[in-house]
Amino acid sequence: MTDVRGFYERHPYPAPPKDLHHLESLYRDPMRRRVMFHTLWPSLTYQAVRMILVAGCGTSQAAAIALREPEARVVGIDISEASLSHTQKLQKTHGIANLELHRLPIERVGELNQNFDQIICTGVLHHLSDPEQGLKALRDVLKPHGAMQLMVYAFYGRSGLYMLQDYCRLLGIGSSDQELQQLSETLQALPPQHPLASVMSTSKDFLHPDALADALLHPQDHAYTVPQVQAWLDRCGVRFGRWVDQAPYLPQCGALAATPHAALLGRLPAPAQHAAVELWRGTITKHHFTAYRQDGGAELPWDPFDSKPSSRRRHHWHHLIPMRVPWTVTVRERLPAGAVAVLINRAHTFPDLILPVDKDQDRLLSAIDGERNLAEIVGSCATAISEKRALSFFKKLWQYDQVVFDASLV
Ligand SMILES: C[S@@+](CC[C@H](N)C(=O)[O-])C[C@H]1O[C@@H](n2cnc3c(N)ncnc32)[C@H](O)[C@@H]1O
Repeated sequence: MTDVRGFYERHPYPAPPKDLHHLESLYRDPMRRRVMFHTLWPSLTYQAVRMILVAGCGTSQAAAIALREPEARVVGIDISEASLSHTQKLQKTHGIANLELHRLPIERVGELNQNFDQIICTGVLHHLSDPEQGLKALRDVLKPHGAMQLMVYAFYGRSGLYMLQDYCRLLGIGSSDQELQQLSETLQALPPQHPLASVMSTSKDFLHPDALADALLHPQDHAYTVPQVQAWLDRCGVRFGRWVDQAPYLPQCGALAATPHAALLGRLPAPAQHAAVELWRGTITKHHFTAYRQDGGAELPWDPFDSKPSSRRRHHWHHLIPMRVPWTVTVRERLPAGAVAVLINRAHTFPDLILPVDKDQDRLLSAIDGERNLAEIVGSCATAISEKRALSFFKKLWQYDQVVFDASLV
């Protein structure tokens, strides 16, 4: 741990922002909180989350979460004093009263003697010498109905990074300012076909010195394939929920859906589908997902359109309330034939995950207000579009991360 701690004292991550004013206006939109809530707990009635742990909070994440969730008590822990002191500065700048910070390793989080409704741990567990010990420690402080939001590195998509890590080791590159500057210049001359090139083009701060050090000179980093994520969770008594952005893992989304393999993929169980799509895409660099205690009472893996007899009610979809994901955009220019708009989720890095919509689908889309349920929305557009087509469109919107459902009344 000391190597990792020393690393983050020298290179606090992310690059410390001076303030979080840009987030204040975003967080005024209550839809952001509701969408995050129902991503974690689709079938609970929306309520403010009470206790949130941000584990390995870095320079700013805990302050941002405390701003976003003013009614929650937020606890941030990290092993890096430098990162915590940046967070304290933000806390002062924004007068954040609902945040408590501790220099404490995740492995010893039980010493807080507190349990949490929500645990956020992104970009951290893959840096632990024993990620299993870390995840078990987090599970043990999660309340039975609590939810975790985890992000760990993805193995295949990082292969270019591992090549460059080996390259830096061969050359004995260290992390002084001059070495990082020279490394950054050398990477700008990288052949465009190099497996690292696509990572660099989708990560806007990749060439920032601290981000570069984090990616290429880190003393400790594990990465996971989709089946390895599932196996790791199993060993830790943790149940997988969903990918926060699920479209990149689904064979029903994007270019793969139009290939001769779409039907074959569709016959596999969901975890195998996701494993296959990760291999097909090749450049997924992180796995960001929700997870729950295996012994707790929280959400089961959930498909809102599952109409098997075992699902809770026959017409359960009637009661689903769709909400637009706030970081999606609707483009109405330079459209493909037959489309009146194209929907984009800005969190997606794969260009084939755009979703064209026609005139009738556009009417359904504009009826989404976060209040009306699907029966009301479909009913209001019944003359223009059949129930079957409307439902298949809502399923697509969900698969493409354009909407999240509040299923609390199902
Ligand atoms: C890549 S940064 C991620 C920061 C933040 N979670 C985010 O997403 O912006 C990793 C952070 O985890 C912290 N960290 C590493 N090992 C840790 C451990 N065992 N316990 C607590 N924090 C740790 C580091 O100090 C660093 O601040």
